[in-house]
Amino acid sequence: MKIGFYQFAPKFGEIKHNVQKAVDTIASVDADLIVLPELFNTGYQFISKEEVSELSETIPSGYTAKTLEKLAMDKGIHIVAGIAENSDGTIYNSAILTGPDGFIGVYRKTHLFYEEKLWFSQGDTGFKVWQTPVGNIGIMICFDWFFPESARTLALRGADVIAHPSNLVLPYCPDAMVTRCLENRVFAITANRTGFEQRGNKERLTFIGKSQITSHKGEILHKAEIDTEEIFTAEIDTDKAKDKSLNRFNNIFNDRRKEFYE
Ligand code: ACM
Repeated sequence: MKIGFYQFAPKFGEIKHNVQKAVDTIASVDADLIVLPELFNTGYQFISKEEVSELSETIPSGYTAKTLEKLAMDKGIHIVAGIAENSDGTIYNSAILTGPDGFIGVYRKTHLFYEEKLWFSQGDTGFKVWQTPVGNIGIMICFDWFFPESARTLALRGADVIAHPSNLVLPYCPDAMVTRCLENRVFAITANRTGFEQRGNKERLTFIGKSQITSHKGEILHKAEIDTEEIFTAEIDTDKAKDKSLNRFNNIFNDRRKEFYE
């Protein structure tokens, strides 16, 4: 399977521009799964509830979901993309999964970061895994990585690949994903963005780039640069994530001692 990410710098508020840029770029590559950043169509630093409401869209009937669905169907590809979702007036920081047969599902971010708590409602979907020909795809969004339970839950629910749309501003995630993948024996695609935003009177947010594909053995298969736009794919065998054996004696799921955990 060819799985990868598109790292770029969305322009705040310019949904049509950002979506078209992603569509044109994805159309130019041969891949089975491409992951886009968190909030790839709107940008990140909102300054009012009205703004986030105006820029949010319904799923799957909104412009961004429909446009990506058409691209995925035309190309026979799976796409995971972060967007601001409007569900009957409740706004979520969400990610959609769409594929060759059309729209598949949505995940709503569980752990909101910093001022996201002003703009978004806490996700209510829980961690979801979808069976696809590319493998079992689970989604978590950016700061979800900080909670090991997110990746663990996805892995226990059968994820082979964690699609991880992100807008990282702290430096820790690329290194941490090595451990998340190793301890769960899953692949992960962290799709981050580049550039910076400074809107209203708010502080400048600089995004760290460094989108990364990490293997089920914790190997970094590819890490993007800090500030370079890049679409990248790696050939991987997602089935390798199904074997949780570390050696003859240790299976990392069977060896869990749940009676001693909280
Ligand atoms: C983040 O969750 N966007 C850091």
